[in-house]
Amino acid sequence: MQQEIANYTFQNPTKIVFGKDQIKQLSSLIPQDKKVLITYGGGSVQRFGTLDRVREALEGYNFGEFGGIEANPSFETCMRAIELIKKDGYDFILAIGGGSVIDGSKFIAAGAVFEGDPIDIFGRGIGKGEPIKQALPLGTVLTLPATASEMNGGGVITFKEKQAKIGFGSIHVYPTFSILEPELTYTLPKKQLANGVTDSFVHIIEQYLTYPVGGMVQDGFAESLMKTLITIGPDVVKEDLHDYTIRANFMWTATLALNGILSQGVPGDWSTHALGHELTVLNHTDHAQTLSAILPAVMIVRKEQKFDKLVQYAENVWNINTGSNEEKVDAAILKTVAFLKSIDMPVTLKEINVSASDIDFLIEQLDKHGNAKLSERGDQTLDVSRAIFEKALELEF
Ligand code: NZQ
Ligand code: ZN
Repeated sequence: MQQEIANYTFQNPTKIVFGKDQIKQLSSLIPQDKKVLITYGGGSVQRFGTLDRVREALEGYNFGEFGGIEANPSFETCMRAIELIKKDGYDFILAIGGGSVIDGSKFIAAGAVFEGDPIDIFGRGIGKGEPIKQALPLGTVLTLPATASEMNGGGVITFKEKQAKIGFGSIHVYPTFSILEPELTYTLPKKQLANGVTDSFVHIIEQYLTYPVGGMVQDGFAESLMKTLITIGPDVVKEDLHDYTIRANFMWTATLALNGILSQGVPGDWSTHALGHELTVLNHTDHAQTLSAILPAVMIVRKEQKFDKLVQYAENVWNINTGSNEEKVDAAILKTVAFLKSIDMPVTLKEINVSASDIDFLIEQLDKHGNAKLSERGDQTLDVSRAIFEKALELEF
């Protein structure tokens, strides 16, 4: 087991342009000679005027548009964009949207210049899992703080027919820039705001709730970001409360939660995400809702393995300083549940319409997708994952 901070090389090439009315900076961020393909989702950017603002900022550029990238972006939709790029010779992609549009656009950027069949970018039983060697440059205008896709090199693509949601990653698909205007979050419905708070919170947890290796900076950043989300979360989800300070803190927290600063040299545990992706495949539950429905069970079933960090979490994040360590941990788990419930997130599997008869399928899927040994120690076997699903089904809060 890792005893101390591991060696690391950290590089994050994304330029962040943050604040009010920043879309107009596009002309200084994209070279004038680029042929730009604007990518977007199901229409929110049209409805709320963001696409018009982008068009205006790109006046004088040669640009086209590709809409319809769905939540949980599908391989098939992205392949249509790749064909368009090849046909019309685009050489810059500008994604406007949340994690789905940005993830889809990362795959499009890599797939458009991939030597061979782009499906081979994916491993885990889908393709050959070949490395991405190049990608078209990509910029983003973020409309939903949640995934940090705007400042990382990862993406998740859905394969409908193969019933799979598979991640990929490369230094080549980091956005060259991302525009973060907190005011763009003012049009988000409550459910998406709560999803964003929760996804960011769980990203932090997955890089923090493992075992201690002395990463004081990583832990300190993580604790500070979690405390920020706990403080602002209930106000973030008030969809009519257009408070710039709250939304600005929300947006930056979500970005920092998964842009690499928390994970350098310390162990990580992406099991809640691995289990969550299979739940989305099962019944299309939103990504963040799957995470919150699983997280309490993960904390309970994996209490022993995560005990030292759970005590630290109780003391430093929830300020629980009395009682035995066991009592502190139990209180911290209940506080976590209360926090998630306070922003109307599900905390059990029943709430997202999963039943006992689904568990065999979920376990088969984990196995098929190379997730038979999860967690910071690789000791979360399929049996342990089964126990987590079962616990998440039986829990009542
Ligand atoms: O499609 P449109 O019409 O734009 O509507 C979207 C979508 O329906 C809407 N929306 C976005 N911005 C809005 C808005 N509605 C009103 N006002 C705005 N400003 O919100 C809906 C959800 O959008 P989506 O992009 O799907 O949400 P999110 O950002 O939560 O992304 C989820 C996807 O990201 C992946 C997830 O698996 C999922 O596929 N993830 C990506 C990660 C990464 N790249 O690092 C890490 C995450 O753990 C996650 O797995
Ligand atoms: Zn996530």
